[in-house]
Amino acid sequence: MMTGKEIREKYLKFFKERGHRILPSASLIPHNDPSILWTAAGMVPFKPFFTGQAVPEYKRVTTCQKCIRTPDIESVGRTARHHTFFEMLGNFSFGDYFKESAIPWAWEFVTEYLNLPKEKLWITIYLDDDEAFKIWNKEVGVPAERIVRMGKDTNFWEIGVGPCGPCSEIYVDLGESRGCGSPDCQVGCDCDRFLEIWNLVFIQFFRDEEGNYSPLENKGIDTGMGLERVASVLQGVASNFDTDLFREIMDFTADLAGQKYGQDSKIDLALKVIADHCRAVTFAVSDGALPGNEGRGYVIRRLLRRAVRFGRVLGVHEPFLYKVSQAVITQMKDAYPELQQKSEHVLRVIRTEEERFLETLAAGSDILSALINEAKAGGVSEITGQDAFRLYDTFGFPLELTQEIAAEQGLTVDEDGFAAAMEEQRKRARSARQETEYLSERGVLYKACGKNWGKPALWATAPWKPIPTYWHC
Ligand code: ALA
Repeated sequence: MMTGKEIREKYLKFFKERGHRILPSASLIPHNDPSILWTAAGMVPFKPFFTGQAVPEYKRVTTCQKCIRTPDIESVGRTARHHTFFEMLGNFSFGDYFKESAIPWAWEFVTEYLNLPKEKLWITIYLDDDEAFKIWNKEVGVPAERIVRMGKDTNFWEIGVGPCGPCSEIYVDLGESRGCGSPDCQVGCDCDRFLEIWNLVFIQFFRDEEGNYSPLENKGIDTGMGLERVASVLQGVASNFDTDLFREIMDFTADLAGQKYGQDSKIDLALKVIADHCRAVTFAVSDGALPGNEGRGYVIRRLLRRAVRFGRVLGVHEPFLYKVSQAVITQMKDAYPELQQKSEHVLRVIRTEEERFLETLAAGSDILSALINEAKAGGVSEITGQDAFRLYDTFGFPLELTQEIAAEQGLTVDEDGFAAAMEEQRKRARSARQETEYLSERGVLYKACGKNWGKPALWATAPWKPIPTYWHC
């Protein structure tokens, strides 16, 4: 079995042998790039080299880049592949080689170094990219029927303002048993059968703030291979969470909580979410982000709070994330030495935030007790959906927790009312949101929508101003 660490090293070595300089990962906090909140791809630190704004010291570079993408936080743990933090392996050419080298190298690495069977690989190319077709088909030898032409939504890559271009992807067919069974199931299907492992971007254009594209003077190459995905294929496991990269963290957390992975789907979900969020927070804090109420800080706070809440599913009620974070540091410090250098700071920040949130949860418990007493005194046997939603929204009380405590006192919770209040909140958040761009994080920058607090005296006891919450789990 090839471990995550081995894949990382193999990749960098392969490209080093082909004239690339291995550079350390850049910070998760983009330098001088207000168009994005996080470094979300390997090419982000190199934008000025593609555009000619800056002259690179090396024309060929390879990296394993720390990345954060957060548009799908709520899918984390529920699917095989969604993460907030992941590692992207990449090779880059700044006005040096182009498709003629990038494509055969990618094929060589995948088939001869990772030993993936050729007959299981599929290729996508941009609609009219006959040049890429020719290289894949004539030079590399991929049969024409396994090269699929796709449109701009999947095969044109861009991130915020900057260099971009058409792309070509390598997919692995994981077999019918992993598919949706539909007769139309093919590369590009949303199901788990065809897994994209590598994206080769042929950088040719510059996209400005208005969304106009202009050709770049020098063409370049930007590629991205998701380490966790490739590890899942090579390790023959069903999801990224079952690779060594995640299992070490999940097993550590399970031990800590006296639980086991693989026996109960709710426990598994909690272990996955905690591992994912803890990785993201550990790396982000070590790169200088801090919990806060907007922008990056809000993302950190949201991830930490979600992880604390999932900790409750495991039966953990004390601060524990800082211990999981230590496990992340221990696992990753060889590849990312900055983790070890900043470990004291990282653990302190996480522990403090965790303690504060636990206080908030405790305050929520007092309010819930008051609501229960009020209901009982009024001869009512149900907590309203509105109240349950406010507990969730202000104090981070998951519905299940409210239900559990209410049930101890013989009360139920109006679930439909809760769902309706949640939907209302979503609608307000949506209408407050301008159009978001792919991978941009504008959603987290918006202010809290107006709330009708209903019972001011009771709700005013929140220990600090509620954060604007659009989190739904
Ligand atoms: N920048 C490309 C991606 O993230 C390689 O998919």
